[in-house]
Amino acid sequence: MTVSFIGHGYVGLVTAAVFADLGNTVWVVGRTKDKIERLKKGEAPFFEPGLAELVKRNLKAGRLIFTLDYAQAVGPSEIVFICVGTPPKENGEADLTSVFAAAESISACMTGYKVIVTKSTVPPGTNKRVSEIISKHKPSGASFAIASVPEFLREGTAIEDTLHPDRVVIGTTSDRAQKLLLDLHKSIDGKHVLCNVETAELIKYASNSFLSLKISFANAIAFLAEKVGADVENVLDGVGLDRRIGRSFLYPGVGYGGSCFPKDVKALIAIAAQNKYNFSLLKAADEVNADAGKHFVEKIVNHFNGSLKGRKIAILGLAFKPNTDDMREAPSLSIIKAIRKKGGHVVAYDPVAMENARHFLPKQIMFAPDAYQAARGADAAVVITEWNEFRQLDLVRLAKELVQPVLFDGRNIYEPTRVKSLGFTYYGVGRM
Ligand SMILES: NC(=O)c1ccc[n+]([C@@H]2O[C@H](COP(=O)([O-])OP(=O)(O)OC[C@H]3O[C@@H](n4cnc5c(N)ncnc54)[C@H](O)[C@@H]3O)[C@@H](O)[C@H]2O)c1
Repeated sequence: MTVSFIGHGYVGLVTAAVFADLGNTVWVVGRTKDKIERLKKGEAPFFEPGLAELVKRNLKAGRLIFTLDYAQAVGPSEIVFICVGTPPKENGEADLTSVFAAAESISACMTGYKVIVTKSTVPPGTNKRVSEIISKHKPSGASFAIASVPEFLREGTAIEDTLHPDRVVIGTTSDRAQKLLLDLHKSIDGKHVLCNVETAELIKYASNSFLSLKISFANAIAFLAEKVGADVENVLDGVGLDRRIGRSFLYPGVGYGGSCFPKDVKALIAIAAQNKYNFSLLKAADEVNADAGKHFVEKIVNHFNGSLKGRKIAILGLAFKPNTDDMREAPSLSIIKAIRKKGGHVVAYDPVAMENARHFLPKQIMFAPDAYQAARGADAAVVITEWNEFRQLDLVRLAKELVQPVLFDGRNIYEPTRVKSLGFTYYGVGRM
């Protein structure tokens, strides 16, 4: 099959590369010459495990083709996926400017029959507007159907998630479009959810929002655990063993971040408000999430008696989660900002996100080539991202690098008793 992807971000590029690897001819449309030229050389614009190899292999095989020209890509394609960004507006609503711009560009060069699929996360009703835009701008001989196939991949495991998703949601009322999409997905396992467009659009927001709720619930229990002298990890183990609940995503820590959860929670709150529903449950999740980061910083500041003036703080982990260099809405950003506001100096280390992080952080932040050098001469080490290499740190060596062995574990990756037995003053989340 010949298909096109508009946008080569985390969703567009990964999905395009996977479908190319499955033997399809895949066009990828970008809007920046420099980026497209780099992609043509096989350089992925961001870090995702296995992606660079996948792109190179399929470029070489001629199955993955990058272009700035919509007509070149859309012309031969049976299916066109819109995978552009939908960032939050000031009021929390999703900014759909890029989606509508892409729809207009696609429609101008349509020939024959096309299935236009939105993979970007968009509020219910968006695809109807996409359909109107295409109807208005398409040449008279062209015809099309609209579908919503939301994406559920996770950065860091994006290729695996694309090949083996829990489900493939196909929202369309066109039998022809559904048949083509099922055919394209035949080598992808995962249960099929066949539904209308609005249902598919809402499934995506409901899924991300529910996961955010689970994280905020874990953080709320963590606050309480600290007050009553319980260990939140043991509490959540006990809770999660109930098969009706499960343990996954009951992660206490410094709060969720990234390019999806914060924006999708806010967007669903806005969608609800537009429909005259006060989604107070999600508002609370959003609030608890902000509190989780603040509460963690308070622990650092309190340890140093209210001021970080003259203190050097080693930050371990910058990316919003492990195995990505994505810094969008990373909790490290607000934590570093708060530490600096209290007078602290920051030395940071992240296994892959440091290059990207420079665009998000003030110039004064220093970077170290590894965790030990970040800790050298620092007053405390603060773990913000749960990279595997931090789980395996030589804590005796880390303690020696620090002025005093003080460890703030924002992801509960260490066993408190063990860390304390090595002489550390240890602060986790929701545990003593
Ligand atoms: N990142 C994730 O983990 C993830 C997972 C599931 C769903 N999503 C959703 O998928 C969508 C894309 O997310 P992302 O993380 O890939 O975004 P991204 O910011 O990494 O990429 C967006 C891409 O769209 C391109 N673009 C924007 N307007 C364009 C236009 N008019 N023509 C051509 N290209 C254009 C940009 O250049 C960029 O390559 C969002 O709606 C997001 O919520 C993201």
